[in-house]
Amino acid sequence: MKAIILSGGKGTRLRPLTHTGAKQLVPVANKPILWYGIEDLVSAGIIDIGIIISPETGAEVQAKTGNGERFGANISYILQEQPAGLAHAVKVAQPFLGDSSFIMYLGDNLVQTDLKIFLDEFKLKQLDALTLLCPVANPSAFGVARVDENGRVLQLIEKPKVPPSNLALVGIYLFNTSVHEAIANIQPSARGELEITDAIQYLIDQSRKVEAQKIQGWWLDTGKKDDLLEANRVILDTCLVSANYGDIDAHSQISGRVQIGENTKVINSTIRGPVIIGENCHIENCFIGPYSSIADDATLIHADLEHSVLLQGAKITGIQQRIVDSLIGQRAQIKAAPQRPKALRFMIGDDSQVEVI
Ligand code: TTP
Repeated sequence: MKAIILSGGKGTRLRPLTHTGAKQLVPVANKPILWYGIEDLVSAGIIDIGIIISPETGAEVQAKTGNGERFGANISYILQEQPAGLAHAVKVAQPFLGDSSFIMYLGDNLVQTDLKIFLDEFKLKQLDALTLLCPVANPSAFGVARVDENGRVLQLIEKPKVPPSNLALVGIYLFNTSVHEAIANIQPSARGELEITDAIQYLIDQSRKVEAQKIQGWWLDTGKKDDLLEANRVILDTCLVSANYGDIDAHSQISGRVQIGENTKVINSTIRGPVIIGENCHIENCFIGPYSSIADDATLIHADLEHSVLLQGAKITGIQQRIVDSLIGQRAQIKAAPQRPKALRFMIGDDSQVEVI
């Protein structure tokens, strides 16, 4: 059994962050989203992993993630020249996959589940495809499955106006080699992409064994800012372990679960967990409230922050109001004017959003 993780794509929904970086490398609780998928696969015993990359962000994904040694995996990188669809990515990965069955994992998904259970089911029943499903409140926004009482998939529908169930397709699929034949027989959709749902529908129409299983834990899409903040909240809530490798002065107060990295200084500040702070950060005269993740090399001086994610090297200084529900990019700076400003001054990248209250 092998795996491919799809880490190409356009990432339009997370602009502007994805103008300069891969969305799968955006951190949740200070760990790139992509790495959660790698770890899940390795825990299920799958170590031959191919990561699909794009020409724009592939080098960054490769540099950050490496050859897999740190995860106990063998990672190969597979270039997909164009984001021409999920099934297209499988096509490009065919030389890597050979005649192996495989798991296809979308690199921007966070799923709390034990993949081993589904692997065993897939092998035991000798399925052609196994899709994973999760009940959602708004099925019209997802790919939805119509499933019979035995778990057999009857139909897949992309963003249905009248959903046949509330079971959305989670971004994890198990396939045997029959999917390659299916992909060779489908045409690009109206949006010009080779859709994996069409390939699975082809298998269903050919009376192949396609089943679906509900996951027990949570599933978080990280495509948009609020989804990402929610993912950050859930991971901090469920996985964060307290640890302090930093330097905290006597005037600071730490409560709840808080993790602080090496060489980070905390001076005259209050930190109320769950909070994670990376390495080499400077936190001075701050309040850092629950559900905040601060990446390495960040500086916060006279700042008040809650339920927010700061990327590497971000800097916030002298902001009196509380900053909430925010996603601040790498090396971005938010600072107070020397005197109370009569005017606001900005240098803001394309697709940014700023709310001045
Ligand atoms: P999507 O979220 O469906 O597409 P996208 O990355 O282009 O994002 P957006 O909607 O914000 O523009 O992709 C799911 C995952 O699959 C994501 O990790 C990107 C990856 N992907 C590929 O690797 N190749 C592709 O051709 C496509 C469409 C997606």
